[in-house]
Amino acid sequence: MTGAFDVHAARRQFASLDGRLAFFDAPGGTQVPDAVRAAVDETMRDAAANLGGSFATSVRVADVVARARAAGGRFLGCSPDEVVFGANMTSLNFALSRAVGRTLRAGDEVIVTRLDHDANVAPWRELAHDVGIVVRQVDIDPSDCTVDLADLEAQLGERTRIVAFPWACNAVGTVTDAARICRMAHDAGALAWVDATHYAAHEPIDVAAVGADVLLCSPYKVCGPHLGLAFGRGDLLAGWRPYKVAPASDTPVGHRFETGTQPYEQLAGFVASVDYLESIGGLEATLEHTRALGEQFLAGLPAGVRVIGRRTMDGRVPTFLLTADGWAAGALADELVARDFCVGAHDTFYCLGLHERVPYGEAVRVGIFHYHTAAEVDALLATVKALVQRPAELVD
Ligand SMILES: Cc1ncc(COP(=O)(O)O)c(C=O)c1O
Repeated sequence: MTGAFDVHAARRQFASLDGRLAFFDAPGGTQVPDAVRAAVDETMRDAAANLGGSFATSVRVADVVARARAAGGRFLGCSPDEVVFGANMTSLNFALSRAVGRTLRAGDEVIVTRLDHDANVAPWRELAHDVGIVVRQVDIDPSDCTVDLADLEAQLGERTRIVAFPWACNAVGTVTDAARICRMAHDAGALAWVDATHYAAHEPIDVAAVGADVLLCSPYKVCGPHLGLAFGRGDLLAGWRPYKVAPASDTPVGHRFETGTQPYEQLAGFVASVDYLESIGGLEATLEHTRALGEQFLAGLPAGVRVIGRRTMDGRVPTFLLTADGWAAGALADELVARDFCVGAHDTFYCLGLHERVPYGEAVRVGIFHYHTAAEVDALLATVKALVQRPAELVD
């Protein structure tokens, strides 16, 4: 236990955290508390209906939707009306970028960064293909994988309409100075479009304080079900022409961008995940614990293991990209998996611009989350050390 956050009490809320497997695959999706599973199950039992009826199951669906909007508003720091739900972050980003794309003209510019997941790049490149907008890419410092703000300043111009950037990088864990980037975008007369998918798993979000115009994330990366969640500033959402069917309601304003029937059982699970986070004091309460685990991990890495990105917990979340001398990343990941550590290896982790700039080949990603313990991190370190001390071909 660190500070007020009791990791063991938190873990007791997850049946899957029974100690058999160590889930260091959190950036791909976290474990869910039992209450989330129960909420999904109960909704399928008690609210298998659609909106609009006066019978009990339909009334319950309306209640689920209202509670999900309220929970989204609390999680993001916005009005429940400004919450948009979708299948996942990528689908929501295509939908919202297509809507704003109707206001863009050939030659208008959208800036993205080399730290972005492709889910925050491809939507703009597709608009470039369709509408003739120009997509610019801000560089990073390859030595520590931080966004080059001088390059951003240099690329902002009178045709800049949108600055799209990640609040944290899902490959190397770098946290960007989101408030500053939002201010820079606004000073240039552009919208600030924030991919908070990785950040939302680690630190609390207040869209007003950071100055986001649009912000997107995925509840399944923070104890919720597979779902996408976005905030859009109310006046923007009201002004954009959505792709929607005619009878669908225009209110609340976020609903204009939600197509078809929503996954009500997932929305109920999302409510339970926000309730869980609030019950542990919010992500704010976990920061000291996760920082300590990250420091423990960095300090304990054996010689021969390289961290791509920052080698300190300053300016990062505890997501680490590693290569090891003498090891192909895939082989190292396989050995760790065989020893009950859930990790994976990949080339880009969908951060294509980063991989181009820092050509590390393939790497293993270790994602530390608030439900991890110091003992799990120690066990992982000891296993990595034992493996890298022997060449890959001698490991049986
Ligand atoms: C930083 C980041 N952005 C966007 C995405 C895409 O999210 P989704 O799978 O919800 O579409 C991911 C998924 O890993 C991510 O890590």
